[in-house]
Amino acid sequence: MSEEPGAIDCQSVRQILARESAGGVVTLRGWVRTARHSKGVSFLEVGDGSCFAGLQVVAAPELENFEAELRHVQTGYAVSATGEIVDSPGKGQRFELQAQRIEVIGAVAEDYPLQKKRHSFEFLRTIAHLRPRTNTLGAVLRVRNVASAAIHEFFQERGFLLLHTPIITSSDAEGAGQLFRVSTLEAGEPPRTESGSVDFGQDFFGRETFLTVSGQLEAEIAALALTNVYAFGPTFRAENSNTSRHLAEFWMIEPEMAFCDLDGNVALAEAFLKHLISRVLERCADDMAFFNERIDETVLETLQHIVETPFERISYTDAVDILERSGERFEYPVKWGVDLQSEHERYLTEKHIGKPVVVTDYPATIKAFYMYLNDDERTVRAMDVLVPKVGEIVGGSQREHRLDVLQRRMADQDLDRDAYWWYLDLRRYGSVPHSGFGLGFERIVQFMTGMANIRDVIPFPRVPGAAEF
Ligand code: 4AD
Ligand code: MG
Repeated sequence: MSEEPGAIDCQSVRQILARESAGGVVTLRGWVRTARHSKGVSFLEVGDGSCFAGLQVVAAPELENFEAELRHVQTGYAVSATGEIVDSPGKGQRFELQAQRIEVIGAVAEDYPLQKKRHSFEFLRTIAHLRPRTNTLGAVLRVRNVASAAIHEFFQERGFLLLHTPIITSSDAEGAGQLFRVSTLEAGEPPRTESGSVDFGQDFFGRETFLTVSGQLEAEIAALALTNVYAFGPTFRAENSNTSRHLAEFWMIEPEMAFCDLDGNVALAEAFLKHLISRVLERCADDMAFFNERIDETVLETLQHIVETPFERISYTDAVDILERSGERFEYPVKWGVDLQSEHERYLTEKHIGKPVVVTDYPATIKAFYMYLNDDERTVRAMDVLVPKVGEIVGGSQREHRLDVLQRRMADQDLDRDAYWWYLDLRRYGSVPHSGFGLGFERIVQFMTGMANIRDVIPFPRVPGAAEF
């Protein structure tokens, strides 16, 4: 916006549509969504991403470049239009801009791939450099933005400190071995040790390093000094799952709380999810109306219901019981001790309970080494939040804060104690019960927008075989 006295005000579509009344001359800059050239007048619908709607710009023949330029304007042109904001006689729009001057800033080559017709999401992924201009991706990006702000708002209001956890790490936080290596060694001829294996001692960091799968272990360090912290950063997993719910690079929100047990953890996760959903419903009303109309007609009702009703909580043991008695023919059979597959999670949340469900106390053998071992010695204080359609969106636990038990669990899972020496130290110096969880940011955005594929809720998806843009 210009500050100069007497200069014409540059305004976004959002600002213009939020006005009380028509009047005044403004400049709007953006991209033409549709151009209609009728007899003696042209209508350009201009969008700038500030909100779902565009603004109609009316170009009359009196404009000096009307015949020479404006009559050729098509979808995708970048324009700057100055004129008076007037009440629109057209349906579905309050105001329009009666242009006094329209400058074509950027024309569009003939092969512009985004024509007016609907494109498949698969096709749009191949033009990720242009897809933010579509209604759907624009709406997704605004929802991501509002949700990100709401995340900080939620934790800041509660006195949680934002912690910047490292992206390059030498430890496998989940102990699941789905790590991307970070290395500057020559790929073809790396230095070798005497035994013939690659000598990572000569690598950049003097040791093997990877992209992080989770900021949790470092968040625990901070929580054991600052009590309540949260991280919100990118995480990386080299799991070769080509599904509609997995990305190789995704963003995760990870709160970590000292003096907090599993119950406190579950309560925080529920309050957090409800806060996020309410804010998005409130602040992205037009975008959400679009998702409900064009993507998934149940999405608004589902979200409203979630905000208003308490989550259900069941133990893993009860969940398996329910699944076994369900009479459903699952692709993967269930019995106590197996990890729940997406079909099981969806049965629980969609069919059996019909709303989000928190499953707790999983078998120790299928969960990470750091989870608190229950007195039964068979289950750990884990919690997964499952929601309809997407399945797991939150994974968390109370952490094992007892040194001896933790060492035993690490031995059970063949983890190298030396590599986690500092993590074990935390259990030796002022250890306290503590808990936390991770919310997959793209999973919650997928859930809120009703988008079928997680690749369409992140601007530049990284998945097996694809990292362009
Ligand atoms: O359940 P996960 O693996 O938990 C952790 O990483 C813990 N260290 C978090 C913590 O306690 N601080 O992952 C947490 C969430 C999952 O529930 C899911 O929403 C998301 O991260 N997630 C993925 N999202 C997209 N693509 C993937 N490949 C994902 N893997 C996990
Ligand atoms: Mg998990």
